[in-house]
Amino acid sequence: MLKNKKILLCVTGGIAAYKAVDLASRLTKAGAIVKVILTKNACEFINPLTFKAITHQSVSVELFNLEVPIEHISLADWADIVVIAPATANIIGKVASGIADDLLSTTIMATSSPVLFVPAMNVKMYQNPITQANISKLMDYGYFFMEPEKGLLACGYEGKGRFPKVEEIVFYIKSYLKYKCDFLNKKILVTAGACQEAIDPMRFITNYSSGKMGLAIARAAHIRGAKVYLIYADIDIEIPYYLSDSSKKTLSAEKMYFAVTEAFANIDITFMSAAVADYKVENINKEKMKKKGDLTLKLVRTKDILAEIGKRKSESQLLIGFAAESENIKENAYKKLVKKNLNFIAANNISVSGKDNTKIHFISKETEDELNGDKFEVANSMLDIVLEKIKKMEQK
Ligand SMILES: Cc1cc2nc3c(=O)[nH]c(=O)nc-3n(C[C@H](O)[C@H](O)[C@H](O)COP(=O)(O)O)c2cc1C
Repeated sequence: MLKNKKILLCVTGGIAAYKAVDLASRLTKAGAIVKVILTKNACEFINPLTFKAITHQSVSVELFNLEVPIEHISLADWADIVVIAPATANIIGKVASGIADDLLSTTIMATSSPVLFVPAMNVKMYQNPITQANISKLMDYGYFFMEPEKGLLACGYEGKGRFPKVEEIVFYIKSYLKYKCDFLNKKILVTAGACQEAIDPMRFITNYSSGKMGLAIARAAHIRGAKVYLIYADIDIEIPYYLSDSSKKTLSAEKMYFAVTEAFANIDITFMSAAVADYKVENINKEKMKKKGDLTLKLVRTKDILAEIGKRKSESQLLIGFAAESENIKENAYKKLVKKNLNFIAANNISVSGKDNTKIHFISKETEDELNGDKFEVANSMLDIVLEKIKKMEQK
């Protein structure tokens, strides 16, 4: 998604300026061409030479430069995307007020490419109503923003203002190179991960699902503007900080059933990608079981969440199920699509479970697409197909 993409990285004078070096490095390693602009104040925190050594591309600070006379226009036209990371309260205020008094702010003014701001500052500076009004104003104009992380800030304060993890910024860049916020006002429920069914207080039955596909869908939908509610069981990876306030952990199939059925009526699109346990132990031992001879456990069926919400689904709701199969993948998936009243089913071979790449047959009654690639890319492709379906439904 980043190969040969032209990324203009704009670094302003915040304490997190040094973290932009890691961002430049990751983007360059992923095959992007990264040019850098620093404000004069950013040079107080980080030396432009560091970026030059990492990107092997132009690194600029001065607006008035005899060697490259109208660089603000050439860079503005060159970029596929402009990323301001870190973005100070000052640059946000300047752009919101139409000020163009140095190379960086003038280039932002001159570009028609997507612009992503990654604010990082003291929590009081971030919460200042002037900063918030500037952000709202710029978002209304179509500029993209990443929320800062909460946590301990360099200034010693605790709160929202931290520079996000570089991996997360990379996901945002990948997304806005191609998409806008085309899922605004859509409420999307995603389930992810492997359910655990208790045997006793120490032991449980589970499966190999990593939760990566579900998380990729939740992440992709959030970045494209959806309001995402994530219900997850056991997962191998960290929940992105911007989803943590709208996530709920439910380890057992029963708990997930109640969480999903409670939320469902308010949801526009549901992706049921969790690997829900089909069976649970009939009598969970209250105390840790002692080792004796052989053990027989009686397993009974869990509640079928997908079948239940398939029954409850209204005409305007879209329901997407997942089928991890080891044989007759498409045939078995199609049967599940019909039986559970789904709009789409994403069928894959269980041999790719847990990996970062996947190959999925995305099937509806009318269409069939083969989606191949890293899970974030595949998640976005699924969202594209779902969006097409929504547009057709709205035309009717
Ligand atoms: C040590 C130090 C750290 C600073 N960190 C930040 C910061 O993290 N975020 C921010 O918005 N401003 C920060 N500032 C204030 C900016 O440097 C100041 O507003 C400056 O005018 C920004 O210029 P620029 O936006 O042109 O780079 C810091 C200032 C100092 C002295």
